Amino acid sequence: MKGDVKATTPEATASSEAVRREFSPGLAGVPAARSSISFVNGETGLLEYRGIRIEELAEHSSFLETTYLLLYDRLPDQTELDRFTSDVTQHRRIKYRITDLIKCLPEQGHPMDALQAAVAALGMFYPARHVLDPQVQYWSAVRLIAKMPTIVAAYHRLRRGDEQVQPRDDLDHAGNFLYMLTETVPDPLIAKMLDTCLILHAEHTMNASTFSGMVTASTLADPYTVVSSAIGTLKGPLHGGAAQETVDMLEEIGSVDHVRPYIMQRLAAKQKLMGFGHRIYKVKDPRAIILQKLAQRLLAESWRSPLYKLAEEVERVGEELLAGKGIHANVDFYSGVLYKTMGLDEDFFTCVFAMARVSGWLAHWLEQIKDNKLFRPDQIYDGPHGRGYVPIERRPGGRG
Ligand SMILES: CC(C)(COP(=O)(O)OP(=O)(O)OC[C@H]1O[C@@H](n2cnc3c(N)ncnc32)[C@H](O)[C@@H]1OP(=O)(O)O)[C@@H](O)C(=O)NCCC(=O)NCCS
Repeated sequence: MKGDVKATTPEATASSEAVRREFSPGLAGVPAARSSISFVNGETGLLEYRGIRIEELAEHSSFLETTYLLLYDRLPDQTELDRFTSDVTQHRRIKYRITDLIKCLPEQGHPMDALQAAVAALGMFYPARHVLDPQVQYWSAVRLIAKMPTIVAAYHRLRRGDEQVQPRDDLDHAGNFLYMLTETVPDPLIAKMLDTCLILHAEHTMNASTFSGMVTASTLADPYTVVSSAIGTLKGPLHGGAAQETVDMLEEIGSVDHVRPYIMQRLAAKQKLMGFGHRIYKVKDPRAIILQKLAQRLLAESWRSPLYKLAEEVERVGEELLAGKGIHANVDFYSGVLYKTMGLDEDFFTCVFAMARVSGWLAHWLEQIKDNKLFRPDQIYDGPHGRGYVPIERRPGGRG
């Protein structure tokens, strides 16, 4: 009980509290919720969404079907999928005032900040305070999934001084996003590849951005606020920023002959190889295996991309040197190379991650509010007690 704490020094207070409660920095290993949305086994490289292996979804599903599965805990029948797809397609446009807001943002700003600001602003246009109302839940999810790609593509173009490209209803989710970026209908294989990247990034258990969204959800804030909190958390370099850093690293290496000396030097300097390693996976990330196969098909065989050739060599040498420590390429190793080849600016890679992960965030939002308990963790106080108030003239440096 807090009232029993009599210690007056930080050390004494901390040690007496620590005896009673175990402290886990970063909540590592502390379950913060029960969830039936996804499951990961880092020892065997297993990732399932609602019990279905990611490999099966990547091969047979689409991003919108996978989103439906995450949100409603079952695969839709054809009528349900057609309706969901049509609802998302019809809500892609953003209000001109959201476009104006994006135009007002500085072009050198980070795209994740633009996305976060625009998503928070959406909540002002579509009030969603009654979060337990199924209609509010459905239409908020539809709007967020539909409009985030439009916001990302608009900022990508507007900051270069190009006109925004309006969405096209005859294109699918990924194809339309690429069209809004480039004003060109993409090759179906490239659109399919992006759609698969979105499936692979849609959900990953209790990660930092999901937790952040859930904390906000637990206050019963509206879903636009929930998603904008999660976007802010995803932006950090320890979470969503690795794909961009991987491409920066590949560009720094420059050519295949520099790979080995570069990696040796980097590891000798105790620097990490970007796009390698994972807190959970101790074998190769199953998403990286799928992406590598896709990249192999598109970038090596069709496009003969020099960046991909370089990435392959980095992975080969990285595996040779790090696999013994359980460190392998992760999902971000190849996704950055793919996005770069699709024409996306590097600082937009995390926005594509957010366009995918919004499905997982919304699934956790729905799960959280169904049986809500406000998140209010505790702390171990390690400051002093019983300090007196000293008038300013009697403090050291005071002018009394
Ligand atoms: C993802 C990551 C943060 C997980 O790390 P973690 O589980 O907290 O493990 P640590 O950072 O404590 O590293 C443990 C050991 O592995 C090494 N290691 C981890 N990732 C490494 C990497 N990418 N390259 C080289 N060494 C790595 C560390 O240097 C450390 O070695 P040591 O015990 O000899 O000091 C880490 O692997 C990383 O920073 N990777 C690069 C960034 C990245 O790709 N992030 C995207 C993740 S999806």
